[in-house]
Amino acid sequence: MGYLQECVGIESRYRRNREPWASHLEQSRALMLEAAAKCEARDSVLIFGAGLLHDIPLIELVGMFRRVVLADILFMAPARRAAQKEERVELVTLDVTASLTSLAEGRTELTQPTAYLDDPSISLVISASILSQLFVVPNAYLEKRFGQSDAESEALGQALVRAHLGYLGSFECPVALIADETHVIRDRSGEETATASALHDVPLPPGGRSWDWDICPLGEIDRDHAVMHRVRGYCDFPKALAT
Ligand SMILES: C[S@@+](CC[C@H](N)C(=O)[O-])C[C@H]1O[C@@H](n2cnc3c(N)ncnc32)[C@H](O)[C@@H]1O
Repeated sequence: MGYLQECVGIESRYRRNREPWASHLEQSRALMLEAAAKCEARDSVLIFGAGLLHDIPLIELVGMFRRVVLADILFMAPARRAAQKEERVELVTLDVTASLTSLAEGRTELTQPTAYLDDPSISLVISASILSQLFVVPNAYLEKRFGQSDAESEALGQALVRAHLGYLGSFECPVALIADETHVIRDRSGEETATASALHDVPLPPGGRSWDWDICPLGEIDRDHAVMHRVRGYCDFPKALAT
């Protein structure tokens, strides 16, 4: 459907922008470690969207939990090497939407994910900058392959975001969430010229903390505009408020 191309694209953008991305990645790692430190049980930590490993404090988590489960639709070489080296790291190829098989055939009714909900060894779940990505590849694919309209893409985007929040809300253990919330466009002077929801206007619950990710500094897209993502992170996602 285009996942490999998307991942290669993210990896190349990361390599071009290591410095501007550093503070976002550091904030993400700090939040994950804060969530881990607060955890009473330290059996398994399950991380959704860990395929690239940029924002995962893997060494520290390996020191804190018996098992670190990295779940993603695909894994790049660093994650594969880490799993080979460290037997406590487990890679799980998983579609967290549980719906890609039908989406690939053009059927857009979603299946509610249930993976790991019945696994009592999971002590902490981390959703690592995956929420705003869940609809990107499916919508691009459905628009191209099945002529999906903008309105249908909007509806599917909202449904996928709500389904993931609902899935996180179904875990009994603590959940940490890091998610892009808003896209911000800036001009050369640094002034914000436009903002748009990164989640098809699905609101995140109140709380957590927010920071800016300088994802596309000037020159990455063009010479006159920079794109920033406003990110929200929750150490302890308020599950009761998840839609
Ligand atoms: C922006 S990256 C997340 C950043 C990542 N935590 C890192 O290491 O920098 C989004 C990740 O979500 C994964 N992803 C997107 N859709 C997915 C799905 N349906 N199931 C599992 N993983 C998915 C991608 O493969 C990618 O690794």
